[in-house]
Amino acid sequence: MPLTRKAYRAAILHSIADPAEVGIEASYEYFEDGLLVVDNGQISALGHASDLLPTLPTDIEITHYQDALITPGLIDTHIHLPQTGMVGAFGEQLLDWLNTYTFPCERQFADKAHADEVADIFIKELLRNGTTTALVFGSVHPQSVNSFFEAAEQLDLRMIAGKVMMDRNAPDYLTDTAESSYVESKALIERWHGKGRLHYAVTPRFAPTSTPEQLTLAGQLLSEYPDLYMQTHISENLKEVEWVKELFPERKGYLEVYDHYKLLGERSVFAHGVHLCDDECARLAETGSAIAFCPTSNFFLGSGLFNLPMAEKHKLNVGLGTDVGGGTSFSLLQTLNEAYKVMQLQGARLSPFKSLYLATLGGARALRLEDKIGTLKPGTDADFLVLDYNATPLLSYRLKQANNIAETLFVLMTLGDDRTVLQTYAAGNLVHQR
Ligand code: GUN
Ligand code: ZN
Repeated sequence: MPLTRKAYRAAILHSIADPAEVGIEASYEYFEDGLLVVDNGQISALGHASDLLPTLPTDIEITHYQDALITPGLIDTHIHLPQTGMVGAFGEQLLDWLNTYTFPCERQFADKAHADEVADIFIKELLRNGTTTALVFGSVHPQSVNSFFEAAEQLDLRMIAGKVMMDRNAPDYLTDTAESSYVESKALIERWHGKGRLHYAVTPRFAPTSTPEQLTLAGQLLSEYPDLYMQTHISENLKEVEWVKELFPERKGYLEVYDHYKLLGERSVFAHGVHLCDDECARLAETGSAIAFCPTSNFFLGSGLFNLPMAEKHKLNVGLGTDVGGGTSFSLLQTLNEAYKVMQLQGARLSPFKSLYLATLGGARALRLEDKIGTLKPGTDADFLVLDYNATPLLSYRLKQANNIAETLFVLMTLGDDRTVLQTYAAGNLVHQR
């Protein structure tokens, strides 16, 4: 294959460390007039345009953006493909919401043609919003994952997904069995895990909808293949937490259920964790597990406020999740807008650089992919965005009053959404143009 080399010139910003560990100033790199060089789908150089331009061949194709910011692609560590058709459903908290809206919507994925149609809509929506990697729940039907990976593979996206395992406390039309969930997950792993930039996640929905036998087999799958992911939900809603105590009276708490079935580990991502206690955060951190912080969903479903400072105290990996359809937006910029309010309501602040970290490098670390995505470091995948300072009249006017990159970044996160994403690149290919 001939070498394809291209360069992109604009203001460039990326996160290089967690502000909680190194302080804000050491957590990012910003190039006011920067250059990003891409070779065959990977970043080969990043720096000031004035330093890099003399090192490049004179005939290299350079795209020059005015009033724009290049950032890494955003990383969504928790989202549901089959809930695309019921996002923004009125009025219930988690358990009623699942029964009333979610399960009937997920049922439609029994039909492969429906799964194909929604996978296409879903991936377009991710890319329109600047999300280049997501950790995705399918439905209980294996074809939901096949449709998603088939569409992601065509665009050479780095994506992680799994078929939901759910063998009790759900309608008959939407349950598998411990045995069938094991066999079907295994077939999907064999077909997709490690193919191109795709990875598989073993996906027990949450403790209430799996029997002990099914949780045992989920743990067994994780032990049978290297580098598999595990995704589930934990401690999102108080009624849910009480229900888990009733269903597993022999376990001390929610986390201990998952711990008992060997579901904690470096590639395990637990969504929500709103009602976790100190000891549970410590145990998650000790095992290298991560939390997906889903502020939009936690507001919308009335679940509560995630305690980010407690997670930081334990050095627990935290990524950001939209949790569509519990969350109401595919936009991680809008999700950061809500995250800021979650912190405000707890008397704390979320700096724009910590927000940038959560949506990029923090997410990559939660997924153990920080050597491949989440920054613009040379040697990583060329998954990046061009954000448009003039996306809306208000944004354009407001950003003219901004005095520095911190203020610009914060306003992009409070006013920004899908309209702000001018272009999305994955593996060096243009995959979305506004
Ligand atoms: N807990 C179990 N299933 C779900 C789901 O689909 N969405 C959310 N937000 N929480 C869950
Ligand atoms: Zn969820």
